[in-house]
Amino acid sequence: MILVTGATGSIGRPLVRRLRRDGTAVRALVRDEAKGRALGCEFVVGDFDDPASIVAALAGVDRLLLNGAGALPADGEQPMVRQQKTIIDAALDAGVERVVKVSVWHAAEGGRLAEGAHWEIERHLKASGLSWSILQPNGFMQNFITGQGSFTADGNLVGAYGDGAVSYIDCADIAACAATLLTGPPRDGETFLLSGPQALTHTQIAEKLSAALGRTVHYVSLTADDMAAALISQGLAPRFADDVAVLTQGLASGIAAPTTTAVRDLTGRAPRTFDEFLAAHHEALAALAWAPSR
Ligand SMILES: NC(=O)c1ccc[n+]([C@@H]2O[C@H](COP(=O)([O-])OP(=O)(O)OC[C@H]3O[C@@H](n4cnc5c(N)ncnc54)[C@H](OP(=O)(O)O)[C@@H]3O)[C@@H](O)[C@H]2O)c1
Repeated sequence: MILVTGATGSIGRPLVRRLRRDGTAVRALVRDEAKGRALGCEFVVGDFDDPASIVAALAGVDRLLLNGAGALPADGEQPMVRQQKTIIDAALDAGVERVVKVSVWHAAEGGRLAEGAHWEIERHLKASGLSWSILQPNGFMQNFITGQGSFTADGNLVGAYGDGAVSYIDCADIAACAATLLTGPPRDGETFLLSGPQALTHTQIAEKLSAALGRTVHYVSLTADDMAAALISQGLAPRFADDVAVLTQGLASGIAAPTTTAVRDLTGRAPRTFDEFLAAHHEALAALAWAPSR
């Protein structure tokens, strides 16, 4: 039995769909019963902050997808390290044989945003005695439909990326890699740096959005300070907004532009292009880009 945490998120949903399609026994950990029912698989209602619910969810589980939200809550406290360490410890107690963790591209000690948190969790997992594989994905294409702060009020793309290109990845490809690692031969102790197939600047992304939406989307380039102010005005926690702004400004140097072969190596097929992503999510994107306050 595979337990999928973060099952209602951008990676969890396609992963659950894929495992169900392949007839693999899968259980989802969800916070909301209605969301669990909608997934169409076995589910347990629980919360990362309720250790007893994690223990219950892990009963009879031999493989675990460890994944949760990366954004900081409005109070600015990052709960992910505490939460995921607790899950790792519970997985060891429950006799879980294999853990696949979703981390982040450039996870590093003391890193901003989720980078430092993921580094700390990775270290805990590696020292746990559990068999592990780690996925370090680049920025999600899904950020353009779910991420706050990607668009101005009049529907233009906004950021502090300058001319820096990013090899964004579709979460469906991350899910496909996770499925391979959970169900295929063990790849114990390996870390996979996951990217999409091409690096795009945000001007190029705005051009692709324009073509997909049938209207002109401009890329509005901000300084890191203006970007942080814009994010705070949209309700993001100030520390999170500041970290996002500084990190995106750092991308201007091209550090997130490299592409890797990991998706193809793990799944046997090329990662999806941005155009393919836009075609698959046209309705959600159109609704968000035309009415960004939704
Ligand atoms: N966004 C990016 O570009 C990017 C890039 C690389 C790596 N990452 C990493 O990828 C991971 C997923 O990213 P995301 O933020 O975009 O995820 P997401 O798709 O928003 O999914 C988060 C999931 O975690 C669940 N969750 C949150 N808090 C929970 C709690 N207390 N107890 C149980 N479940 C909880 C959510 O359930 P509900 O439906 O109940 O809310 C949801 O299923 C993060 O670790 C992030 O750091 C993100």
